[in-house]
Amino acid sequence: MYLNNQPYLHTKNDRMNCSVHSDYHQMSEFAANEILSVLAANPKATLCLATGDTPLLTYQLLVEKIIRQKIKISQIHFVGLDEWVGVPHTNPGSCHYFLHKNIFTPLNVNLKNIHLFDALSANLADECKKMNELIDRLQGIDLMLVGIGRNGHIGFNEPGDAENNFAHISQLDPLTIEVGQKYFTETIHLQKGLTLGLAHFYAARKVMMMANGIKKKEIVKKTLEYPISTQVPATLIRKHQNAILIIDKDASGQE
Ligand code: GLP
Repeated sequence: MYLNNQPYLHTKNDRMNCSVHSDYHQMSEFAANEILSVLAANPKATLCLATGDTPLLTYQLLVEKIIRQKIKISQIHFVGLDEWVGVPHTNPGSCHYFLHKNIFTPLNVNLKNIHLFDALSANLADECKKMNELIDRLQGIDLMLVGIGRNGHIGFNEPGDAENNFAHISQLDPLTIEVGQKYFTETIHLQKGLTLGLAHFYAARKVMMMANGIKKKEIVKKTLEYPISTQVPATLIRKHQNAILIIDKDASGQE
């Protein structure tokens, strides 16, 4: 699968693109440029950008490039991928806080173009309904950038969750709850998430899935080789019409 200086490689059986890079910096640079090309093609694009450790450098590079190249993003809309239920947006571990700190504040994005889940809403079902309606009004998602949970989740679409879900309340998998503690400085009770659904994932006009480091090696292997099934949601990328898996050498399992 891995060839030096060859960013695009096709996996054995599928039409999916897999882009393997020598290190985290290279893959982040590549991913930032991919996002820029979406913005260049469509200055009114709707982006859904994951939070987490994986895309952090991508966003830092993206912000730098947008500022340096004076790219206009005033018509770009941003929709949230997921959020921890019950965690206020002032908590640095929330997805809300992460996106504002790393993308929206440095780029001075107009609040009217930012659409995130309210994890404290008294009516979570209504939050999901509002998000679904909004995405419809925006005529769908142009680019969805997702990470891979260690159990293969996409957003908070956990193993076994329905493939035809739009935004919904998710019961978090025990591994997600355990790993999720890493985003918080205090011990936190995590039980549910709000997330866009796999139906949004399939409908996105372009999907970028990213993973880096040895800790993701096993799940990347499953993503590429296990039967395509919601038991490992990340495998569903192999059914998407326009998707790319962006990984570094460590996650690829190559020596
Ligand atoms: C988290 C989030 C996902 C994220 C994934 C991987 O729990 N719900 O949206 O993509 O798990 O996170 P990380 O990049 O920190 O490994």
